[in-house]
Amino acid sequence: RFFSLLYHIRRVVADLRFNNKNHSTMKKSIMLIAAMCMTSVMTFAQKVIRVSTDKTDLVMKVSPKGRLYQVYLGDKFVNPADYDNLKWDVYAASDGAVSQRGHEVYATSGAEDYFEPAVAVTHADGNMTTYLYYQSSVQKAVKGGTETVITLQDKVYPLTVKLHYVAYAKENVIKAWSEISHKEKSPITLWRYSSTMLYFKSNKYFLTNYHSDWAKEGQPETTQLSTGKKIIDTKLGTRAAMQAEPFFELGFDEPAKENEGKVMLGTIGWPGNFRFTFEVDNVGALRVIPAINPYASDYKLKAGEVFTTPEFIFAMSDNGMGEASRNLHDWARQYQVNMGMDDRLTLLNNWENTGFDFNQQSLAELMKDAKDLGVDMFLLDDGWFANKYPRKDDHAGLGDWEATKSKLPEGIPGLVRDAKKAGVKFGIWIEPEMVNPKSELFEKHPDWVIMQPQRETYYYRNQLVLDISNPKVQDYVFGIVDRIMTENPDVAYFKWDCNSVITNIYSPYHKQNQGNFYIDHVRGIYNVLTRIHNKYPNLPMMLCSGGGGRMDYEMLKYFTEFWCSDDTDPYERIYIQWSLSKFFPAKTMGSHVTNWNKNTSVKFRTDVCSSCKLGFDIDLKSLSKDDYKFVQQAVKNYNEMKPMILEGDQYRLVSPYEGSHCAINYVSKDKQRAVLFAYDLHPRYKEPQMNVKLQGLNSTKLYTVKEVNLMPGKTSELECNGKQYSGDYLMKVGLNVFTAQDGTSHVLTLE
Ligand code: DGJ
Repeated sequence: RFFSLLYHIRRVVADLRFNNKNHSTMKKSIMLIAAMCMTSVMTFAQKVIRVSTDKTDLVMKVSPKGRLYQVYLGDKFVNPADYDNLKWDVYAASDGAVSQRGHEVYATSGAEDYFEPAVAVTHADGNMTTYLYYQSSVQKAVKGGTETVITLQDKVYPLTVKLHYVAYAKENVIKAWSEISHKEKSPITLWRYSSTMLYFKSNKYFLTNYHSDWAKEGQPETTQLSTGKKIIDTKLGTRAAMQAEPFFELGFDEPAKENEGKVMLGTIGWPGNFRFTFEVDNVGALRVIPAINPYASDYKLKAGEVFTTPEFIFAMSDNGMGEASRNLHDWARQYQVNMGMDDRLTLLNNWENTGFDFNQQSLAELMKDAKDLGVDMFLLDDGWFANKYPRKDDHAGLGDWEATKSKLPEGIPGLVRDAKKAGVKFGIWIEPEMVNPKSELFEKHPDWVIMQPQRETYYYRNQLVLDISNPKVQDYVFGIVDRIMTENPDVAYFKWDCNSVITNIYSPYHKQNQGNFYIDHVRGIYNVLTRIHNKYPNLPMMLCSGGGGRMDYEMLKYFTEFWCSDDTDPYERIYIQWSLSKFFPAKTMGSHVTNWNKNTSVKFRTDVCSSCKLGFDIDLKSLSKDDYKFVQQAVKNYNEMKPMILEGDQYRLVSPYEGSHCAINYVSKDKQRAVLFAYDLHPRYKEPQMNVKLQGLNSTKLYTVKEVNLMPGKTSELECNGKQYSGDYLMKVGLNVFTAQDGTSHVLTLE
């Protein structure tokens, strides 16, 4: 419109300059200019805000009464003039009068929308209603995207809400969060505080949520949403992902599919209590409300303080989940995950091998093993600390982060030195948010511990959670990492564990203000992590929580990877990794070869882990000669394949949920190289074996197929090994790589 206006103005000016006598064209131009100015004024009067990626448009409009409505969320418009046609919905009220109820962008409590609100406040005078009116909006470029900030205000109370949206155009990812603040005379109470609110319109909605438990992470369940609400939430305090994962898929009109159909992937960045509300309203629209769980969290907000919600991240696609996942992976690596574009370290961990039973000498041996295996690092797990109550098992020691003298006479410096001698990096396990009642820390600071003053104490793994909402405790937790790093600058890595949910829910620090506790506790953790990150920006850290109890994109701003699950049985891991890959790139997913399900071959176990961030947690000396040779070669192969697995595009080809096999392939960004992982789980007798059709290749290039990760002395039995095929053929006909044998796997490179 602007350019066409310019064009007509220039024509009129030219006509005047050259004294053009053709009055009818001049008149026409002048009329067009006037019309355009008028429609522009009208459009301004009806303010339109667009949050757009290359493929998606989220469109909001301000109504004449000044309220802000979502008028569209879906495929990007090709014709910008069409935005003018979008309307906020107006429904006739039952008495025949026309009400103003549309789909308000951040619906409030007490207004004319009778469904679940995004925000609810008890004002200083006790009034529980809020009406938000549009004030202003600004857009600015941020790394990788465009940020839109919309300011809304109540007219009766000095309450302000700022809605933030960052749209990442190329990756087609949007993240949204909100800020709530006020200038009332005394604190207000927030009892709903969602990150954002999104509406969808479709005939049917299918939700896939993921339930979870220890050693059972990422279990998908798909249901059709019907009128009313479905809520997915947790109340675990610290470990958002332990019973319900903080992510979901939506399929529109049909359950979400891998390579076709309209889907949305959504996830919230909050390791504390979260709540996803899915509500289908009276006109069949679905509202999605991602939020901190308001359970036991009526939050007192003082004047001038800003309540910032967690980020909600979502990716939409018309081509199924595969595309949405790849976009999320690209976005995560580039803009969200700590050191997201950097390499990752392969490692040897000792937890599944030694448990608590080790000493300086046996660790020095393991470090040599790590070197011999060919991995980058040795990672020392639980059991290295505490002296008054040494950490012999999980009953004592948490909180006393001094190396146990009887086990490790030369402390961490001795371990760092031994690792250097062996030629590997050294990483160390901590669980800094926790305390055992049998510890010096507990004896000194019982007031730092979340505990009921008058009730019997309930223990989860014999431990209690520190009250990290208390700034003094934050200093202490920061000090654990800081002291290890100051005294041992060569420590190369931390595994940060969190094995307990919050029990005995009472914060000594918050006293009368328990409603703020759950939220301030998580913010306390962020304060600590921010301080660590600022001081040690290049320190890789693994996020662990009794397996995969924590995996979210806020924590991943500080961590380089997370531990998917303590369940390392390769069969189970195939399912877990499949689910988690929907939301997280392979380079963030730690996967270690262990002795879980020893009945499977070491090759099968290694091949399963090699499709993520590879590590080992096994007694290497117990392996047969062939197995040992195999793992040494597998590490070398992994290093070769890393650019594809960690940086490339992932295609989930054959789902373990749909049969007895699984296959995925990774393709380098330039499509010159690819790697295919194929697994046979429990094939049925005489089950026909289908070819695996690859994806993402260049159809006009020729790829040479080579099977790698073969047992020593074995040659490939695959017919395709060593042959050349066009990308087109590989994607249309595919390769015969499945077998009818349980626990078989094949890894193939395509160059
Ligand atoms: C739980 C983790 O998931 C394990 O890998 C291990 O670190 C133990 N905690 C140690 O207590």
